[in-house]
Amino acid sequence: MKPLVKPGNANFSSGPCSKRPGYDVSRLQLNTLGRSHRSSLGKSVLGQVCQKTAAALELPPGYRVGVVPASDTGAFEMAMWSLLGARPVDVFSWESFGKDWASDITQQLKLPSVRSFAAEYGKLPDLSQADPQHDIVFTWNGTTSGVRVPDGNWIAADRAGLTLCDATSAVFAMPLPWDKLDVVTWSWQKVLGGEGAHGMLILSPRAVERLEHYMPPWPVPKIFRLTRGGKLIEGIFQGETINTPSMLCVADYLDALAWVERIGGVRETMARSQRNLGVIEDFVAGHEWIHFLAAEPAQRSNTSVCLTLDLGAEQVKAMIKLLEIEGVAFDIGSYWDAPAGLRIWCGATVEATDLQALMPWIEWTRQQVLTG
Ligand SMILES: Cc1ncc(COP(=O)(O)O)c(C=O)c1O
Repeated sequence: MKPLVKPGNANFSSGPCSKRPGYDVSRLQLNTLGRSHRSSLGKSVLGQVCQKTAAALELPPGYRVGVVPASDTGAFEMAMWSLLGARPVDVFSWESFGKDWASDITQQLKLPSVRSFAAEYGKLPDLSQADPQHDIVFTWNGTTSGVRVPDGNWIAADRAGLTLCDATSAVFAMPLPWDKLDVVTWSWQKVLGGEGAHGMLILSPRAVERLEHYMPPWPVPKIFRLTRGGKLIEGIFQGETINTPSMLCVADYLDALAWVERIGGVRETMARSQRNLGVIEDFVAGHEWIHFLAAEPAQRSNTSVCLTLDLGAEQVKAMIKLLEIEGVAFDIGSYWDAPAGLRIWCGATVEATDLQALMPWIEWTRQQVLTG
């Protein structure tokens, strides 16, 4: 039977992700538009982005938050280009983005001393191989495989190296052990449903110490530069951005942060993602033709939920098309590089009731595809 109820919001893309419930662009605080980002108003609003983010995420004292160019990619590349090379590197990858970081470390930075631990889609590499004397590079949540790191127990508290973590689809959705993380990057358009373009860079005091005592042997372009005269450019972490940001995106992000505060903070955004995953877990448990790509339940993402089906790739495509035509789910095909299947975003801005409404449609479209 064709389901009668449709999700109120059919946006289940894994980035840019759905806007928050109740989002209204006309409610943004837009007094910064048309003003210089270096005016006292601009700087104070950008400074608020840094301070409010640190408070919302409950970062330990001494951790710095900055807004940097070029989204999560910009933030992560900036960190790799500025910090790596001082020690051997252990890089862990298990899906497309992590593999890109591994290849940049070996092919672009051409670091001589790199151990690469890779796993196929659906699995994690052996994290226990991480050497506390080395720098460790990894992704917290593999957005394209739906496999996440379950915890930080494998990271030594007394490590000598730094940990560099791309956590773009994890921040605000998964508990992060900040004391185990020296560099964390993410972007606004994921769990908070913000706008694309800007990256967030979080640095631990140990990362800052490395920046101030290590000079990479390669040229660092201005857009990646975090130090001047051997000192951290503190302004970057107080609202003085390296180059011009979009103040419209900034206003949109502050609106998202205010929503986080209103609903109960990061605990509630994490709980919302977890409840959303629960809706899909219940559905998968009741149907033998659909499976999590993540082999281990403890490693299942609660944001980018990746599922495989007992259908061929063309049939999956037909299903996704039909879901779109019916207006019940947009952009839920798996990443181009990942096994064919569905990828349904479950981050905090998605409503569990919308996922509940979507599940019968998945069953119905599969039936339509099977019966031609
Ligand atoms: C794990 C991960 N890293 C990096 C990126 C690239 O992010 P951005 O487009 O914000 O640069 C993405 C985007 O989905 C991602 O999921």
